[in-house]
Amino acid sequence: MSRPVDILGRSPVILQLRELAMQVAVTDVTVLITGETGSGKEVLARFIHDRSRRSGKSFIPVNCGAIPSGILESELFGHERGAFTGALQSRKGYFESADRGTIFLDEIGEMPLETQVKFLRVIETGEFQRVGASETIATDTRIVAATNRNLHQAVADKHFREDLYYRLRSVELQIPPLRERGGDILLLAEHFMREFERKHGIDFEGFSPEATELLLRYQWPGNVRELRNLTESLLILERGKEITPDILDRHLVQRSRHKSLVHDPGRTDKNEMNLIYGSLIQLRQEIGEIRQMLQQLVGTRPAALPQLLLPGPASTPTEDSGPAEQPVPRPADTGEETVPLDELEKRSISTTLQKFGGNRRKTAQALGINERTLYRKIREYGL
Ligand SMILES: Nc1ncnc2c1ncn2[C@@H]1O[C@H](COP(=O)(O)OP(=O)(O)OP(=O)(O)O)[C@@H](O)[C@H]1O
Ligand SMILES: [Mg+2]
Repeated sequence: MSRPVDILGRSPVILQLRELAMQVAVTDVTVLITGETGSGKEVLARFIHDRSRRSGKSFIPVNCGAIPSGILESELFGHERGAFTGALQSRKGYFESADRGTIFLDEIGEMPLETQVKFLRVIETGEFQRVGASETIATDTRIVAATNRNLHQAVADKHFREDLYYRLRSVELQIPPLRERGGDILLLAEHFMREFERKHGIDFEGFSPEATELLLRYQWPGNVRELRNLTESLLILERGKEITPDILDRHLVQRSRHKSLVHDPGRTDKNEMNLIYGSLIQLRQEIGEIRQMLQQLVGTRPAALPQLLLPGPASTPTEDSGPAEQPVPRPADTGEETVPLDELEKRSISTTLQKFGGNRRKTAQALGINERTLYRKIREYGL
């Protein structure tokens, strides 16, 4: 017998998921597995089967999205001779042939509504009828279903039965996306590299520290499948080379979106901040010029003009700011006072934080700096 399938990973989320899967494996309860594409839904379904009393029987994966809707029902439940045009002979469906094994219904959200009715009945009573038959057949099959679709939305859109949705959801195992599994990315990369080194007889030269950092920061839209495919491509196509961020970038699916990660992050931060400072300083100069023009045009004393100047906190007149006649020569009045760069930076961070309701991730993204830098600056400025 082949080795039982394992879920690789040491991150707390994966260890917890593994633990939960072991607990449900020994029962016959119907399980719904949810997770993004390539995150390991089928691996988890096999893991459960391999640790159940059914491990010696068959595991039948059925992709509900890939089988034409008219055929799916007869594939699952079988049909009688003459049940429909072309049904020349009666035939057993998966629920009969997988008896005492496990059926893995992948992309369950794609199951047609008529089939969902029959399916719910199997879950609830363990019984079904072949298409075109009146006789009821009992089945002892474990059902594991999976989806990467938002089933809740499918229910709202009336594409998925609400009763079935709640029935399936009673035991739901959610697989986290790879980008949320931290160090597991490197552990899996290492595992797949060893696997492909053996398969192709090629030695892997390793990732440079910068490439390793990029692996950790990349979004992995294709999850573990993408990582697995990537390691094989790197090993074969970049044979004999240490993998640098540039090489990695050529092979990643989501190239354009992570492009900036390939550059030195410190440098990127500085460049982007310099652009922000530049724009603010330019804006200040322009406002200063407008003030001067207005002064010349109206011939009024500066203090009587609207205090437009942007950054200076004292530049907005208030009720108690004193009579306008008072000679208060403030640097802001000349339009030439200098605000230190770190003050500009502090204000820029503070307003952006406010704009995103204190959400640091969004703030960091908007400012074009990484989250760690943002944390440091928040501490530094006591924001
Ligand atoms: N934890 C894991 N340990 C080892 N290999 C894994 C793990 N998770 C996923 N894989 C590997 O990643 C690939 C994709 O996994 P799987 O087919 O289970 O994903 P899926 O969620 O069913 O994808 P899809 O949504 O496209 O059907 C497979 O090659 C599988 O072996
Ligand atoms: Mg799958």
